[in-house]
Amino acid sequence: MKQCKSIFIGVLSIILLFGVCGLLWAADKAKMPEKAKSIEATAEIESDHPEVEPGISCNDCHEIKYDAKTTATQVYLYEDSPRYDKGEGVMKKERVWQEIEKAIGGLKHDSKTFILGTSVNNVPLTTTCEWTLDPKTKNLYGFHEKGTEKLRHIAANPKVSMNYHEEFDSATFADYLCVQIRGTAELIEGSNPAFEKAMIELLPYEFGARVPKDATPKQREERLKQYRQSVRNDFLITKITPEQITIVNKNFSKEGFRLYQRWTNK
Ligand code: HEC
Repeated sequence: MKQCKSIFIGVLSIILLFGVCGLLWAADKAKMPEKAKSIEATAEIESDHPEVEPGISCNDCHEIKYDAKTTATQVYLYEDSPRYDKGEGVMKKERVWQEIEKAIGGLKHDSKTFILGTSVNNVPLTTTCEWTLDPKTKNLYGFHEKGTEKLRHIAANPKVSMNYHEEFDSATFADYLCVQIRGTAELIEGSNPAFEKAMIELLPYEFGARVPKDATPKQREERLKQYRQSVRNDFLITKITPEQITIVNKNFSKEGFRLYQRWTNK
């Protein structure tokens, strides 16, 4: 009888132990977001959706599929559309790049200002700043003072999007041009040899160096070198590696091309 009782207690405690573990496991699972399926970019939340706290966005839990044929841009780029059959009017990759260079290329004082979009904790920020496209590496370089919000954003989240556009005439719609870039940014410190190299070869910093007009070439070089050294601690160079560039240009239609063309680094 005594043996029976202890077996009974033994079994009971095993059941209890499993029960407690099960409860703990369930509680843990409730805290962790359940693995969510990937969704289309156009998906919307339904009333039975798990609660989403403010500051959390769809892509924190779901992978978002942007390749959906439902997006208007996809139709403009490649699909059957009012003016083109599927695949018609699409430029070759090399040609798209040429057009991109024509729109946003140029070294030193031919650099361009862009709107740079960064994001931390799902709060976006746009900043106007200057960028130089390196035609050799296809990367963009910018020279910016340390401590600014955009650089803190990049340090926390290197995914960026940027946009260059020309003002258009809304009365005629005769001309429009814009270039949208998605890419990954990297901050380059002054101690990195790439910093000096980018300054010398690409960036428009000479204005800041204020070389006297009557300086000899040697004095000018001296002054520029001094300046490059003086900014090494207070500035950063940001390198952006584009992954996708979409260009919209009214002129493309003159040659029978679609207005929207896209280059990707793959
Ligand atoms: C905290 C995590 C989380 C966030 C944030 C979140 N979801 Fe979900 N979502 C889930 C989970 C978990 C499910 C249920 C599992 C599943 O079906 O993927 C779900 C289900 C869905 C479904 C049904 C999927 C299917 O095929 O059945 C859709 C659609 C959806 N979510 C859209 C959204 C959208 C749109 C947003 C942003 C506005 C969003 N979700 C934000 C966690 C999240």
